[in-house]
Amino acid sequence: MPTHRREFIRKLTLGGSALATGLPVFATAPNEEALAHSAQMLEQTPSFNMCGYAAPKLDVVRIGIVGLGMRGSDAVGRLAYIDGVEIIALCDKYADRIAGAQKTLAAVNRPIAKEYSGEEGWKALCESNDIDLVYIVTPWSLHTPIAVYAMKNGKHAATEVPAALTLEQCWELVDTSEKTKRHCMMLENCCYDFFELLTLNMSRQGLFGDIVHAEGAYVHDLSTGWLFNKKAYADMWRLKENIGKNGSLYPTHGLGPVAQCMNINRGDLMEHLVSMSTGDFSLAPLAAELSAKDQFFQPFAGKNYRGNMNNTMIRTVKGKTILIQHDVSTPRPYSRIHLVSGTKGMAQKWPGPAKIAFGHNWIKPEELKSLEEKYTLPIVKHIGAIAKEVGGHGGMDFIMDWRLIDCLRNGLPLDQDVYDAASWSSIVPLSILSTQKRSRTIDIPDFTRGNWKKNQPVNLTLEGGATTGVRTDKPALKM
Ligand SMILES: NC(=O)c1ccc[n+]([C@@H]2O[C@H](COP(=O)([O-])OP(=O)(O)OC[C@H]3O[C@@H](n4cnc5c(N)ncnc54)[C@H](O)[C@@H]3O)[C@@H](O)[C@H]2O)c1
Repeated sequence: MPTHRREFIRKLTLGGSALATGLPVFATAPNEEALAHSAQMLEQTPSFNMCGYAAPKLDVVRIGIVGLGMRGSDAVGRLAYIDGVEIIALCDKYADRIAGAQKTLAAVNRPIAKEYSGEEGWKALCESNDIDLVYIVTPWSLHTPIAVYAMKNGKHAATEVPAALTLEQCWELVDTSEKTKRHCMMLENCCYDFFELLTLNMSRQGLFGDIVHAEGAYVHDLSTGWLFNKKAYADMWRLKENIGKNGSLYPTHGLGPVAQCMNINRGDLMEHLVSMSTGDFSLAPLAAELSAKDQFFQPFAGKNYRGNMNNTMIRTVKGKTILIQHDVSTPRPYSRIHLVSGTKGMAQKWPGPAKIAFGHNWIKPEELKSLEEKYTLPIVKHIGAIAKEVGGHGGMDFIMDWRLIDCLRNGLPLDQDVYDAASWSSIVPLSILSTQKRSRTIDIPDFTRGNWKKNQPVNLTLEGGATTGVRTDKPALKM
């Protein structure tokens, strides 16, 4: 056998060249090697089915939080507010960021946590023997490496979105979760927003008939206030992610909630996609303008920025379609669209106000109110009011955290499993590939490897749970 072929197969056996190293990688289109690796993974029988998996109950969930920037600092406050939680460890690349999180703990009368810092401090945190859950709030490039390392060290992993940036990482998450029987949940908080939960229940109860089409988005102008703000993202990581590639870099806020309404991975499956991006009409000019005034921005001038708007269309095995939009760089009002459309009716959240129709016209506000009363899910009735008080994107962040902890404490399956994390995140590399190839059709791998046909839809009850309380010391959140 020629040496290069032997080497290629050796890499496949290792699970791809980037995988074994644990080094951060950035969002990229899969190359030939990654596609061959994915094809090989698809042929293998899964070692275990993590959908519906209930891990042994944890009376107390001992947490290590990695990444204490804007989002991670708030996560400390939210998690510290939940009973049955101990925040054992805090980690950030920059040691000074830990002090702020310690102050948050002290303010709500929680004990001081252990501290880990430096580029690879998260490894020691994952290796420690006093943690059950590693909660990951770092730049995107570290989500998979930390989640995988956590699971390999016997911890459950909960990671911010997107869980993975490459096709190989998606498979690595699936493979590791199945082999270790550790949960890998992507923290897709938008699945827990109030109108999204209402439409999830209404979809399940058949009010929209057969769902035919759905739309989601992340349209949020981050350009001047965030991407180019020296004081926002650590080391300007998020601006850097927008250089040198084109595609849907942040698909899961729009996709997650509609995927749950459509029972993706649990009765239906995303089969293929096509993706198209515009050119960039604002980021490069902004970089040029800023660098002329401030040399800090010089490394960002003359770069090839991601096109402003990306449209990705997904078709499912059962013949339904999903449109996902991504634009963080034109001045538009915020939107995740959240449109669910079926044979009997439709719902749409953005542009607001959220609305529902069962024919040509939107129903009246009083009719919407009575639907809300009838179809509000038990989780919202149970924890919604407290969540609104605590905050975190209007309360959805807290509902998500509370539910995660309550499931772990009661040995219940999580609402989002590793197949959701992998398939929703796979839109990142696959949309980049389609865009690169002039919107060519790209297959979406079946990360469940056939189990989607028998996997049960997300449980909408609180059966077996709802035993987790909240404390009296309310956190002060920024977001
Ligand atoms: N779900 C949501 O609504 C939502 C909202 C905002 C951000 N996010 C996600 O949260 C994550 C963090 O975003 P952010 O806005 O807080 O960014 P940030 O830059 O403010 O925070 C990232 C933190 O990670 C730290 N970090 C970097 N490298 C590290 C390493 N090697 N080890 C430990 N820590 C390291 C940084 O120092 C920083 O404190 C991102 O994945 C982002 O997409 C999600």
